[in-house]
Order: sequence, then structure tokens, then C-alpha cells
Amino acid sequence: METQVAIVGAGPAGLLLGHLLQRAGVESVVLEARTREHVEQRVRAGVLEQGTVDVLTETGVAGRLHREGMVHRGLELRFGGAGHRIALSDLAGGRAITVYGQQEVVKDLIAARLEAGGEVRFEAEATAVEDFDGDRPRVRFRAGGEEQELRCAVVAGCDGFHGVSRRAVPAGALSGFEREYPFAWLGILARARPSSEELIYTHSDRGFALHSMRSPEVTRNYLQVAPDERLDAWPDERIWEELRARMATDDGFELSEGEIFDKGITPMRSFVAEPMRFGRLFLAGDAAHIVPPTGAKGLNLAVADVRVLARALRDFFERGDEAGLDGYSDRCLRRVWRVQHFSWWMTSMLHRMDAGDPFEAKLQRSQLEYVCGSHAAATTLAENYVGLELEDA
Ligand code: FAD
Ligand code: DHB
Repeated sequence: METQVAIVGAGPAGLLLGHLLQRAGVESVVLEARTREHVEQRVRAGVLEQGTVDVLTETGVAGRLHREGMVHRGLELRFGGAGHRIALSDLAGGRAITVYGQQEVVKDLIAARLEAGGEVRFEAEATAVEDFDGDRPRVRFRAGGEEQELRCAVVAGCDGFHGVSRRAVPAGALSGFEREYPFAWLGILARARPSSEELIYTHSDRGFALHSMRSPEVTRNYLQVAPDERLDAWPDERIWEELRARMATDDGFELSEGEIFDKGITPMRSFVAEPMRFGRLFLAGDAAHIVPPTGAKGLNLAVADVRVLARALRDFFERGDEAGLDGYSDRCLRRVWRVQHFSWWMTSMLHRMDAGDPFEAKLQRSQLEYVCGSHAAATTLAENYVGLELEDA
């Protein structure tokens, strides 16, 4: 098997890259370890930045997104029993976010690719990425019980944090920067109407809670839990009780409840691999970096990477121009570190930190009051949350 660009992984990064390349006349094959059903049903992020919506719109894959997505122009920070609205759009030049599940974006991208005659090999697990220091790299993969090989000119490693692409890089060529947090998120989807028109990020003595949604009938809620928490310790009633307790307000906020039909625990980590390019291997999305989900950035960062990569690959295959490929890593890392800082900042401000540290709790409270009371501080949150328009990104 042979192609121009071998894309490892059919998450948002790999699928969008395939879509953008197809439109630019560059051939690619996407290899995905799991089944189509699995990747279409994997529940993850839900907040799309304006720039993410724009690229999906401009490239013709946002029909359903515009029909079903929910445009939000503000969010609530809740602490001390009261809510405070951050007017995102007023503070950030009119830009907004759209609430639309990641797995819906994935479904739309798979449908578009198959309709355009592009190839996605499901249940094709890459086992090795080789020879990327020359101009004929190869991806070995296992499909239908057989070892196979995909030859190409460029490999795009879009296989997430646990994939093979980053691990193919020789030790010493890559620097990793990492931080682990002493908590995780328990996330649920429930058949319950949203209790608010906008997202609610709650800081409470009992820990962080987030109220989000997917549609007028479905809510998505998250709770800060211990990093080694087990799902079976959280029967439905305990989840609702804890959400109610953390989100309670002095004026009697009522959380609507319903049948929980999805439950999962997500660890919290910050990670960056530098550089993001090794010869003809390019890392994009979670394969290169992970952010804690508090800033709602993981998916948006993956999209920003592949926009830069698709443009660079178009110039390379069209005109032999390597400038874009040479600048890929530096250009992406500028955004990556801005987003790392924002995600770390939101995480640190909103979660219950070391239980025995009242000093920390006082600092958090002061910071929250400042963000809600100062136009300048609220603008900092807003412009980062809707997505900064960094040069070239
Ligand atoms: P992924 O979506 O991870 O896609 C990688 C793909 O590669 C997968 O389909 C995988 O099956 C495939 N793959 C892996 N190894 C191989 C291989 N060897 N061969 C072939 N294919 C392979 N972000 C938020 O903003 N909010 C959230 O609430 C949130 N929740 C999350 C929950 C979980 C459990 C996880 C893991 C992430 C969450 N994120 C969240 C982050 C966000 O979903 C990711 O940033 C986003 O999915 C990144 O997209 P990606 O395409 O880079 O990687
Ligand atoms: C959602 C996830 C996030 O990480 C976040 O910060 C806001 C919303 C969500 O899944 O809806």
C-alpha cells in the first residue's frame, strides 16, 4: 500500500487532516485501531472555539453543527453560593463558542471522507513507524489478522497520547514537559434538560463541578474526584447528591435530573512533547500534547495543529516548498504553550487543591473575585476561552 500522507489515528486531528488534504488535492490514508462504532460513540469534549467552527464551516462539514450546536456568548463562574456571568462575546470582540459533542464532529468528518471516496481503515492498528529520517517512511500495521505496510512520503502521528507515533522517536530527540494533578473528572451524560442557558464552572469547598449540555434534552456534568477513583464507588444517586451540594446557591438553584446513560473518569494531566516534527514524522493533537480539560481546549488545539500542518503539506506536495514543514513545530508550540498556561490557570483556580491548605483556598477565592470584578481580568479569561487568534495558527 502506498500514499502521500499516512495518517495514524481517526480522532478529530487525523480525520480533519485527511479532510483538509483531500480538499487540497493531497492523497492520504487514515489508519485507525478501533472500529467505526467505537470512535463515533466515544464521549469526550463538547466546546468548540470560534476558529474550530470556522474551519469546519469553510470546508463544508458544519451543516449539522449549525443545526444542532448551541451557540453560547457567556459562561458562569459560581463560588460562595452565587453565580457571576462572564460575558464572553462582549469581552472578546463578538466571538462565541459552540457546544457540540466531539463524537458528533467525528461522525460528520467520517461521513464527509467516505462520501468523497477517501480511505479510513478501521481496525487497522499501527504497530511501528519507521524510516522517517529519510524520504520514504513506512507505517507497519495489523489488520484482519495480518501484518501490513503503508509506504508514504510523510507520516502524520494523530494517534493520541497513548499512540505509537511519539514512541517511535528515539530517546534524546524529544523533550517531554509534564505535570500531573492530584484529581480526576467523573463525567456523566443524563437525559435531563439543562438547568442553565450557559455552562456553569463551580468552585466549592467540596470540590469542582461543571454543568454543561449537549442538547435541550441532554446534560453533561462533571465532578472533581480522587485521581484513583473507581466508577463503582459512584452510584447515580451519589453523583446527583454531590452535584446538588457543590452547585447549591443562596437563592435556591435547582439542578434538573434524569437517567444517566454514560459515565466515565478522565485523568488530569498537562504534557508537551518538543519538537513536534522529526524528519518526515509530524505529531499533531494529543499525540504531541495534553491539557487538563478545565479550559475546554484539547480538541480545539488538535484542530489548530492540523490547520497548520495541512497548509504546510499542501505547499510541499504542490510546489516542493518545505518552509511550512520547517516552521510547523515552532508555530504550533506558540499556541500550545499559551493554551497550556490557560488550562493550568483555570484548573488551579477552580479545583479544590490540597485539602489541608487554607492559604491556597484564600488565594483561589481572591482570584475568582478578581476575575469576576475586573474588566481586564474577565477579558483575559474570555479571549483565551473563545480562542486567541494567534498569528498563522
Ligand atoms: P484522539 O481523539 O485521542 O484520537 C486518536 C485516535 O488514534 C483514536 O481514535 C485512537 O483509537 C487512535 N489510535 C491510537 N493508537 C493507534 C494506533 N497504534 N494505530 C491506529 N490508531 C490508533 N477535552 C476537553 O476539552 N473536554 C473534555 O471533557 C475532554 N474529555 C476527555 C476524556 C477522555 C477520556 C480523553 C482521553 C480526552 C478528553 N478530552 C477532553 C481531550 C480531547 O478529547 C482530546 O484533546 C481530543 O480527542 C484530541 O484529538 P486527537 O485526534 O488528537 O486524539
Ligand atoms: C465540556 C467539557 C469541558 O472540558 C469543558 O471545559 C466544558 C464543557 C463538555 O463536555 O461539555
